[in-house]
Amino acid sequence: MPARLAILASGRGSNLQAILDAIHAGTLDAQVVGVFSDRPDAHALQRVPEALRWTRRPKTFADRAAFDAALADAIAAVAPDWVVCAGYMRILGAEIVQRFADRILNIHPSLLPRHKGLHTHQRALDAGDAEHGASVHFVNAELDGGAVIAQATVPVLPGDDADTLAARVLAVEHPLFLHVLQLAAAGRLRACDGLPLIDGQRLFTPLSLQFPAS
Ligand code: GAR
Repeated sequence: MPARLAILASGRGSNLQAILDAIHAGTLDAQVVGVFSDRPDAHALQRVPEALRWTRRPKTFADRAAFDAALADAIAAVAPDWVVCAGYMRILGAEIVQRFADRILNIHPSLLPRHKGLHTHQRALDAGDAEHGASVHFVNAELDGGAVIAQATVPVLPGDDADTLAARVLAVEHPLFLHVLQLAAAGRLRACDGLPLIDGQRLFTPLSLQFPAS
């Protein structure tokens, strides 16, 4: 049976599109069973049929916990094997993390633990980093703090601004995320006490994957 993926996305959805394309091409044995967004105008939603879309405005809920509870119920209703944060820009509360413990993956545009949070590309430039990149990690209750599974690195080039650097990182995000999702879909990736196991072996350092950067 193809792995059931619940995708959380707040924006453009290029990572979601890469997932859909890989499924279509037969290189990812998975099925997108729902796309969940905190932003009704997120372009990501347009990439799947209406029946797969769930979106609510957080402001219409009493508080963060109420929004998270509604989101968690909607995710649970599609019985996912994996919850995949693909450009989801809200912090997941402790309860939702607990409910899907060890089954939530996130892609973050930095070489974690460097540059958690927002504006990672500008912060890499401001820090004078020679290298930047992206990380896929398990989600825990700490912002961008879960165990890192795999990373891809790109060079920071003279003359880069945040946009050129973001584009170079995005080009490696897609194959990086797909690599990890292929492991997950094949049942080769698990978490034990929040730490990644691949083929049953504890991963002590993140996989370092090389892709041609744009
Ligand atoms: C990606 O760069 C992803 O790494 C980042 O948002 C972008 C979404 O692009 N995620 C975060 O910053 C999460 N903290 P996309 O909507 O085109 O996939």
